Amino acid sequence: MTTFTERPAADVDVANIARIYDYYLGGLYNFAVDREKADRIKSLMPSVDLLARANRDWLRRTVRFLLAQGIEQFVDLGSGLPTTGNVHEVAHARNPRARVVYVDYEPSAVLHGEEILADEPLAAVIEADGRQPEQVWSHPRFRELIDLSRPVGILMGGLLVFVNDQEDPAGLVADYRAACVPGSYLSISHLSDDLADADTRTQVGRMSDAYQAGVGQRLYVRDRETIASWFEGMELVEPGVTLMADWRPDPGRAVDAQTPSRVLGYGATARIV
Ligand SMILES: C[S@@+](CC[C@H](N)C(=O)[O-])C[C@H]1O[C@@H](n2cnc3c(N)ncnc32)[C@H](O)[C@@H]1O
Repeated sequence: MTTFTERPAADVDVANIARIYDYYLGGLYNFAVDREKADRIKSLMPSVDLLARANRDWLRRTVRFLLAQGIEQFVDLGSGLPTTGNVHEVAHARNPRARVVYVDYEPSAVLHGEEILADEPLAAVIEADGRQPEQVWSHPRFRELIDLSRPVGILMGGLLVFVNDQEDPAGLVADYRAACVPGSYLSISHLSDDLADADTRTQVGRMSDAYQAGVGQRLYVRDRETIASWFEGMELVEPGVTLMADWRPDPGRAVDAQTPSRVLGYGATARIV
């Protein structure tokens, strides 16, 4: 059962990536059409929800790390829905002055995000295409909340997997980096299958086909070397480009050690110098 307002502007008949992801995270901001597509994808890639959760856990640990480095402003590109345990909650638990701008290109994710953030003066969600940095920088809410003359944390969790090679993910990372002052940080997580066994690779291919069929968006799988190359010229934070579950895991917490999805994504953070 959904508990949020099904406003007409929310496209209830067409599934979208943000609400499918919310469903995998156990959230309530999804419709029957999203759950149907999500269940179809899960039938082809049974550990897809664990992959989503590993990605979100990596994002939370990353935000805590950046807060510990003194970062007080965050830009979450391809944010999905800012539901429970998202960036502003993690940030405000440690620094109530932290500012967060969520960016997504799904109008319905933005609509529900606005409802969720209605009482949060220091967090906003904006509708912009993360492949067009100018759309992000020029948005009035972005300009109100984020000061690019001060260090910022740019978060690209699960975004570049939706960006194809012709759209130049490396160039995009370079553009975001160029807009940030030294002392800023850039974090990326990305789907990969270079450590997966043959069966899991096949599942990843089917998952990508199912995304294409379900929401009209393919997933672009990349290897560790490619992802690492995007950080050239920046200072990679230890432990570098690692499986998401291995990136500064919370002490005593073994993350899905036995699931095939454990090897399906890398995460990394670098300091802009
Ligand atoms: C897998 S979810 C990731 C959510 C969150 N960043 C995390 O790491 O937990 C990907 C999100 O990126 C959004 N997205 C995909 N391509 C985008 C683009 N070009 N611009 C903005 N958002 C995009 C989708 O709508 C979706 O909400």
